Amino acid sequence: MQVQEKIFVAGHRGLVGSAIVRQLQAQGWKNLIFRSSRELDLREKDQVNLFFETSRPAYVFLAAAKVGGIWANKTKKAEFLRDNLLIQINVMEAAYRYGVKKLLFLGSSCIYPRLAPQPMKEEYLLTGTLEETNDAYAIAKIAGIMGCKAYREQYGCNFISCMPTNLYGPGDNFDLESSHVLPAMIHKFHKAKEAGLKEVELWGTGTPKREFLFVDDMASACIYLMQHYNGQEHINIGVGKDISISDLALMVSKCVGYTQKIIWNTDKPDGTPRKLMDITRLRELGFEPRTSLETGINLTYQWFLQQEISR
Ligand SMILES: NC(=O)c1ccc[n+]([C@@H]2O[C@H](COP(=O)([O-])OP(=O)(O)OC[C@H]3O[C@@H](n4cnc5c(N)ncnc54)[C@H](OP(=O)(O)O)[C@@H]3O)[C@@H](O)[C@H]2O)c1
Repeated sequence: MQVQEKIFVAGHRGLVGSAIVRQLQAQGWKNLIFRSSRELDLREKDQVNLFFETSRPAYVFLAAAKVGGIWANKTKKAEFLRDNLLIQINVMEAAYRYGVKKLLFLGSSCIYPRLAPQPMKEEYLLTGTLEETNDAYAIAKIAGIMGCKAYREQYGCNFISCMPTNLYGPGDNFDLESSHVLPAMIHKFHKAKEAGLKEVELWGTGTPKREFLFVDDMASACIYLMQHYNGQEHINIGVGKDISISDLALMVSKCVGYTQKIIWNTDKPDGTPRKLMDITRLRELGFEPRTSLETGINLTYQWFLQQEISR
């Protein structure tokens, strides 16, 4: 990937896309192109083809997707399946037709079976039943991995794919209806601290274990893979360590400065009991994430506070 070459970051306003843009710009890439979903709806084949025909990007980071937390995934399965399949296939087909040199597709750790052995290795894909709460989203992401392989095999396209673990950081979605667990905790504890509440309710039992990767490390990994990886197998991106949701809650509440009680609503779903990525392949390729969970949460809370002030 040469500095003057044209790079399309699809989903540049999102958590991951914005971090990729920040890093590319910081590293000196100037020829970046992006479009919001209003300007270019990637679900619309004709719009996508016209965009690729006229813009001719050499590299594509495919970080545009319909994304959400447990509740959104569970209640809007048709949308998660349809939108993601359309975005992926339209972008891959246009990338093939208009001679893109390389494309990186972003999947998700939910592609692995619900009860996959831990930590989850890349080869566990399609070895068991998916988690029911986000199976539609997972199937779309699995189709994306297959898309990269199929275009590679049949047309010789250099399409690669990576599977990030749970991400968080500046630019995250803090909306309490649709956000992921970590930004939701930051928002809830912050609101509770401001309002002087005596307790905060969190979903589930607190026992599931999850892994969290700071989004700037994710962006570095994406750029690293774009530069150093040309294989057909998808690559896990994570930190290789997990934490229980209840311990995470303690860490976030400490960072936010909320010192009152935490109540667990066990009527709400927990999701998969444990999800930890095996990142041996990523490490063997020479990449290691840098940001500790504590530092990342602090940086994210600072960003959240700035947004609150500027509102
Ligand atoms: N966040 C995580 O924890 C996580 C974990 C694992 C994997 N991932 C994967 O990482 C990728 C990026 O996720 P994210 O968290 O950055 O998501 P995000 O913050 O929700 O951003 C998604 C982006 O996709 C764009 N988009 C959605 N529908 C579109 C459409 N029809 N046409 C054009 N653009 C569209 C949005 O554009 P506008 O803003 O212009 O509407 C937005 O910029 C996704 O593939 C996701 O599956 C994320």
